[in-house]
Amino acid sequence: MCGIVGAIAQRNVVPILLEGLQRLEYRGYDSAGLAVVNSGQLQLVRSTGRVAELSEKSAETQGQLGIAHTRWATHGVPSERNAHPHLSNDHIAVVHNGIIENYEELRSRLTAGGYVFTSDTDTEVIAHLVHSHYARGNSLLVATQAALAELVGAYAIGVIAADDPERLICARRGSPLLLGVGIEEHFVASDVSALLPVTRQVVYLEEGDVVELLRRSYRIFDASGKQVERTVQTSELSNESVELGQYRHYMQKEIHEQPQALANTLESVCNSQSLVPGIFGAEAAATFADIDSILILACGTSHHAGLVARYWLEAIAGIRCSVEIASEYRYRASVPNPKTLVVVISQSGETADTQAALSHAKAQGHGHTLAICNVPESALVRLCKLRLLTRAGPEIGVASTKAFTTQLAALFLLTLILAKTRGHLTGQQEQQYLHELRHLPSAVQKVLDLEPQIAKLAERFANKQHALFLGRGLHYPIALEGALKLKEISYIHAEAYPAGELKHGPLALVDKDMPVISVAPNDALLEKLKSNLQEVRARGGELYVFADADTHIHAADGIHIMQMPEHAGYLSPILHTIPLQLLAYYVALQKGTDVDKPRNLAKSVTVE
Ligand code: G6P
Repeated sequence: MCGIVGAIAQRNVVPILLEGLQRLEYRGYDSAGLAVVNSGQLQLVRSTGRVAELSEKSAETQGQLGIAHTRWATHGVPSERNAHPHLSNDHIAVVHNGIIENYEELRSRLTAGGYVFTSDTDTEVIAHLVHSHYARGNSLLVATQAALAELVGAYAIGVIAADDPERLICARRGSPLLLGVGIEEHFVASDVSALLPVTRQVVYLEEGDVVELLRRSYRIFDASGKQVERTVQTSELSNESVELGQYRHYMQKEIHEQPQALANTLESVCNSQSLVPGIFGAEAAATFADIDSILILACGTSHHAGLVARYWLEAIAGIRCSVEIASEYRYRASVPNPKTLVVVISQSGETADTQAALSHAKAQGHGHTLAICNVPESALVRLCKLRLLTRAGPEIGVASTKAFTTQLAALFLLTLILAKTRGHLTGQQEQQYLHELRHLPSAVQKVLDLEPQIAKLAERFANKQHALFLGRGLHYPIALEGALKLKEISYIHAEAYPAGELKHGPLALVDKDMPVISVAPNDALLEKLKSNLQEVRARGGELYVFADADTHIHAADGIHIMQMPEHAGYLSPILHTIPLQLLAYYVALQKGTDVDKPRNLAKSVTVE
């Protein structure tokens, strides 16, 4: 999704801007651009290609003050004219992440006032608004503050003026933005990873902050306009660029990293003899003792992790749990309960809807909050009282894989610790679960060994238009996740159903052209599932079954079996996810899609 990088320095900032953009590429974008101030003029370069193309086009461009952007289209198609930065009268340049909701009204007013719009974006109104205030003799800071006061919506912005080479103004409301503090140089970015080559000293801006960056100093003003101090932190993120190594795509690499990612996430627990609430933070024990229910809020794949956790939390910890899609919850009138623990799950920790859902929950009086997140310094982690970091490492592929399975591991830990707190776990059960968790990475490794067989199976999907995924109970969310993976990267329309629902509608779709993929763990629902599979077979549907050992489901005409190495009890959803990830990956290879950057999708969705 959109990324921002800006710099003011004593040296040419173009290479810094380009490297920053390159480091944000994985988030997904469709065009990119930069603007620098040079000898009282703005130099603008934009491109609809990759950052590498922008880099070629910028060969002659230089300046000591500049802003840059990767765009993910919301208002207006991906094109050079819609790419950022946007200029007003060749004088003001703006980059923007977020969405301006009242842009139509502002656009009409500005057009009536003589401003000419050259793009279809909402961002261009910001450039003209700043210009209108700047032209009245205000400083760039005051002009930007005045413009922001007229905006409704979400933004992180960077602003520069052709005749002011000494200043970069930036601001945030609803979209992430941080400052990088260097020696006689300052930076701004939407994601810390963009700045790691130049500084680790960062200041995370708060809602409504407006900042004036000079070379030697900076001033931060809060939402009320008061000058404030914000803490400078040293980022702990690794600066190592993520290499593909022996793999063809990041998604394939990340699928294979799962044993290690799980081992890392579970490390502290697996090395100890007992489960303690402290892994969630100092206040966890007191919080867990005070709660009577759980509310999980998340989007996309993270939401699927929450759906699995609901089964665990209710079955093992005996605690009521509801799971909601963040974008729904944030606008729904719901009944708050101060004894609910609100759990937000997010790979990036920056997803706009999940952040807004958390704020909504807090505004409703929910004080107990926990983030399960893969990015230690992200907004969600900072905004929650408790946290558990998944240690999957950077996830680059847009389709989430290792983040999902590590989220499941983290949620299983939450389940066990709540079960223990609530007296639902005997010492013997605790030891048994710890044993199973220690074994989990090697169990996942064994499932990965199915890769060649799954690659072969995928050939049968290359010409399919639709696919149906079935699961039951704990594995219904895994069917959902399998369908999501397939549609995200192979563009095959895929739906998931709890197998018992089949006869209430989707069975009408089943014929010889509809592949039906079923997750078949050896659990209490196995016999029920087998009957559902018969219903499919009887209608001529082609079945692909991922079956645990001893399920006694046999290959036959129209029934393809992938034998899972073992049954992992409650941890089974983690194992059953792996072959579905591999299936989606190999089907996408068959279809020749851009696996790591599927069309129209973004890694971090920082707009609503
Ligand atoms: C995007 C990504 C998905 C991800 C979802 C939620 O749609 O493409 O892979 O599951 O956002 O992201 P989060 O970072 O909050 O887990």
